[in-house]
Amino acid sequence: ITTFTQVNAYFEEYLSQKSRMKKSFSDLFSARSSSNGSIGTDEGLFELPEPLASSKAVMEKILCQRSLQMRNQQQAWQESPEGRKMLEFRRSLPAYKKKEEILSVISRNQVVIISGETGCGKTTQIPQFILESEIESVQGASCNIICTQPRRISAMSVSERVASERGEKLGESVGFKVRLEGMKGRDTHLLFCTTGILLRRLLADRKLKGVTHVIVDEIHERGMNEDFLLIILKELLPERPELKLILMSATLDAELFSLYFNGAPIMFIPGFTYPVTTHFLENILEMTGYKLTPYNQIDDYGQERMWKANKQAPRKRKSQIASTVEDAIRAADFKDYSPQTQESLLCWNPDCIGFSLIEYILCHICENERPGAVLVFMTGWDDISSLKEKLLTHTVLGDPNRVLLLTCHGSMASSEQRLIFEEPEDGVRKVVLTTNIAETSITINDVVFVLDCGKAKETSYDALNNTPCLLPTWISKVSAQQRRGRAGRVHPGECYHLYPRCVYDAFAEYQLPEILRTPLQSLCLQIKSLKLGSISEFLSRALQSPEILAVQNAIEYLKIIGALDEDENLTILGRYLTMLPMEPKLGKMLILGAIFNCLDPILTVVAGLSVRDPFLTPMDKKDLADAAKSQFCGAYSDHLALVRAYEGWKDAEMNLGGDEYCWKNFLSSQSMKAIDALRREFICLLKDIGLVDSNTNSCNAWSSDLNLIRAVICYGLYPGICSVVHNEKSFSLKTMEDGQVLLYSNSVNARETKIPYPWLVFNEKIKVNSVFLRDSTAVSDSVVLLFGGSLLKGDADNHFKMLGGYLVFFMEPSVAEMYQSLRRELDDFIQNK
Ligand code: CDP
Ligand code: MG
Repeated sequence: ITTFTQVNAYFEEYLSQKSRMKKSFSDLFSARSSSNGSIGTDEGLFELPEPLASSKAVMEKILCQRSLQMRNQQQAWQESPEGRKMLEFRRSLPAYKKKEEILSVISRNQVVIISGETGCGKTTQIPQFILESEIESVQGASCNIICTQPRRISAMSVSERVASERGEKLGESVGFKVRLEGMKGRDTHLLFCTTGILLRRLLADRKLKGVTHVIVDEIHERGMNEDFLLIILKELLPERPELKLILMSATLDAELFSLYFNGAPIMFIPGFTYPVTTHFLENILEMTGYKLTPYNQIDDYGQERMWKANKQAPRKRKSQIASTVEDAIRAADFKDYSPQTQESLLCWNPDCIGFSLIEYILCHICENERPGAVLVFMTGWDDISSLKEKLLTHTVLGDPNRVLLLTCHGSMASSEQRLIFEEPEDGVRKVVLTTNIAETSITINDVVFVLDCGKAKETSYDALNNTPCLLPTWISKVSAQQRRGRAGRVHPGECYHLYPRCVYDAFAEYQLPEILRTPLQSLCLQIKSLKLGSISEFLSRALQSPEILAVQNAIEYLKIIGALDEDENLTILGRYLTMLPMEPKLGKMLILGAIFNCLDPILTVVAGLSVRDPFLTPMDKKDLADAAKSQFCGAYSDHLALVRAYEGWKDAEMNLGGDEYCWKNFLSSQSMKAIDALRREFICLLKDIGLVDSNTNSCNAWSSDLNLIRAVICYGLYPGICSVVHNEKSFSLKTMEDGQVLLYSNSVNARETKIPYPWLVFNEKIKVNSVFLRDSTAVSDSVVLLFGGSLLKGDADNHFKMLGGYLVFFMEPSVAEMYQSLRRELDDFIQNK
């Protein structure tokens, strides 16, 4: 009760401050979109002063003058030596040869689909063609072109490139906007932004007032946001007949999109690439004489990966993949190869790309091959940084006079981004470790060699188990071809696939669209925040609709956590969650952490749930690692153990001893750094939506109250909850749906024989024979009673019922009643606020 009273007081204080601070979200947006005299309402940047805005004639005159000015500027640039050189380069691109044709198709049709190989100039040229033709026709200053990119980094790098092709600084006629960052000015007519930014804009401006062209790039990737955007745009087109929609794809199968948009015309840009010699694993082994390490001798890192892959993959999926790959290898005929290669291939482990093999090939290229950059496709950021660390210790590859080692992934800094495109000094070979981001959205010009590990991180979701996961999975044939194609841009190239040919043959033709393979919770929230009606009805209009079961699961979950009410309407919490680009449960924790002034530890918890487990357990030093971890235990919580480890690391890092601290305590310093970076990003997000005051960072008055932190964790993780049943020597765990469940052996709670709390909330449960729980925190009855469930009006009684009467049954009736009324009070209180 004391905790509740404190919490209550803080909640009240916080909300009263907030209501003074800011108008509600919808007020803010309706104020914005009703402002008159604006050309393109996005953030009011185009607004003219009132007397001018009211005079249409004056406005037109200004626009005309501005267009002429832009035209003259471009002419001057194209006549300068650099400008001429740039124009020459642009003219050499396949897309440029189709310029007139493309413009004419666009002028005659509302929707056009353009497909052409990566690097042919779609992203950099086509938006420019439109801009240039508008400038020519003296419409330039009134055109407003938006080109969406699936990733922040491509929006940023492409806009910079286009501005430099036009001899301008970023933010003049060309700009970009991504979450929390942007560069655009009054005269920006071509804006590169992430798909998410355009979706956010639709929230305020349903008709995309003032926008003349929408270009949706990289549609072949079939990202969730892009598929979602297309449903909305499809509906908008009849209402905005003058709006043009251009879809761009790097693969040639554009039929599906054409059908979706009533037979919209498809334009193909023929590309040119040099031939690429392809080596599969067996050829690599023959060529280099390298012998693969058998399963049981893989290094620590490989073992850890294998262990994780085996534990994490939902059973059905895992066995499907393994059986296709293993069947393929078993069925393959390797008789053309030497006995050593045959043996190597048969012991080859699909879950583990040997880092030492990559090292070996890189070394082989650096020492024996012709000049040219090397592009190494890895699965994700964690792999990339581990490999980088390993390569830096290598005598050849770690020598900066011989190798320029760079990384390319979604969260890299812009300084590093620029380096990727630059040519290294003579005699130095550029090696870029990349995620699948360099597959189609980023083109590095001088690449001649490609290494392809054959996997990419993909979020997948099993609607039956209702468990999401982010796992490295096999890429599709199309992706493998894209990766290979990167090698033949400037010279004939070489591609090394680090898997046997028979595995490639077993790849799927295309990757499943994201909307069909990931949880739909965030998407459902977006549908609601854009007021698009019934979720299932809306999703039935998608290019390919997700399973009904997946949609129902998502809606049900959102109701349980209080983001949607019984009638599927967005609650206030739901509205805030739509503004945080992360899983709803993580968003919930951040929101409550800010409200209850215990943000610091909660930031760590949420960041920790988004990165690779920082606690390392090398197989041969398991005892030492266990002992090191025990110093962080004691609170019956994996989340709090992480908070302690992070705080220890942060202190050590201040004194420049972060790495040593990690080494001593069996922690991954990469994960710690990633957590640190994510924490900063989360703070910015919270400031962005007004939950944290932008001038202060004082959301920490209660950061040392462990019970409060447990409550916030419970608020986020509910309904992931199980009860702790003690017997004589130890305890067992039960959830309502699965009955008995088990803890992963690396959980701090798995070392205990007794847990002095009646409940565990957990982050994730995974079905592998039995149901296993990952990352759990012990919580008390009062926390579950007060913070579990949706905290919606009228939810209290339901919530008590959902807990199966467990608590109420064993409690003194008077105590149960008291809790029930407290809960109602809390619900009422939050609802009224
Ligand atoms: O979109 P698409 O893959 O068709 O090609 P793009 O991104 O428009 O790139 C066209 C060409 O511009 C590439 O082949 C690169 O040579 C060049 N480019 C560059 O040099 N630097 C950039 N930041 C982007 C593109
Ligand atoms: Mg492109």
